[in-house]
Amino acid sequence: MPIIHNTFKKFQTLVREESGIHLSDAKKNLLTSRLAKRLRHYGIDSYDEYYRLVNEDSFELQMMIDIITTNETSFFREPHHFDYLKNSLLPEFKGSKYRVWSAAASIGAEAYTLAMILDEGLVPRNISWEVVGTDINTEVIEKAKQSLFPMEHATKIDKKYLKNYCLKGTNKYEGFFLIDDTLRRNCTFLHANLMYPPSSQIGQFDVIFLRNMLIYFDNENKKIIVENVIKALKKGGYLFIGHSETLNKITNQVRQIRPTVYIKD
Ligand SMILES: C[S@@+](CC[C@H](N)C(=O)[O-])C[C@H]1O[C@@H](n2cnc3c(N)ncnc32)[C@H](O)[C@@H]1O
Repeated sequence: MPIIHNTFKKFQTLVREESGIHLSDAKKNLLTSRLAKRLRHYGIDSYDEYYRLVNEDSFELQMMIDIITTNETSFFREPHHFDYLKNSLLPEFKGSKYRVWSAAASIGAEAYTLAMILDEGLVPRNISWEVVGTDINTEVIEKAKQSLFPMEHATKIDKKYLKNYCLKGTNKYEGFFLIDDTLRRNCTFLHANLMYPPSSQIGQFDVIFLRNMLIYFDNENKKIIVENVIKALKKGGYLFIGHSETLNKITNQVRQIRPTVYIKD
């Protein structure tokens, strides 16, 4: 079903206001194809009518946000970051508890990868750890909490981590694996919109992963998000971004130490 340009513009504004995400004009087909199933669900035959519904119904507004966000992720994505954490940052840590935030966590693959690295590197030194995962999309946060993944997600996980931290599903869970309770009990997942400052309850972090998220925002909103996230980074803490992202002209509150790794001095 086609969308008139004016209606697309209204969705563009609404999406930006609610999530900060910039939907360029080139994303018109993407938006319509993603929303089409909601129109079918309600038996609605125009995007204008759906726009009215979304404005009146906060549940449907969240549904729309869930549908338009891109949640692509994988375990051990951009593995050099996990190598750097394991080989350079963890050995220098002197405290009693290490806290990491996966700030755009999607279904939790990044957070559980972090959990594997932290558990392996810190527990033998009697250092406890915690991973907090947040996302604006409520559906992915529920999946992250379940920690049950299709076997295809296991391909990038090293055998030793599969053996130590993943349980192979049987019977009705055939074809899935579950993250072991050793990791799950130190991982928390919360719904949060990074366009707003983090709640003070979330605390301060030694490391923040904000990867493959900034690409969906214009520079004005990138600045807001990065400044919000940095508020929760400890002095001397590290911020990781995705390989195709940069903080050039976005903030000078953190200093680049590697192409996609920054420190808060
Ligand atoms: C492509 S995924 C990246 C997942 C993971 N960080 C990685 O690199 O594999 C981007 C995530 O950012 C989330 N996101 C988009 N806008 C957001 C916002 N304003 N606040 C919090 N999360 C947001 C999306 O829902 C999505 O799950």
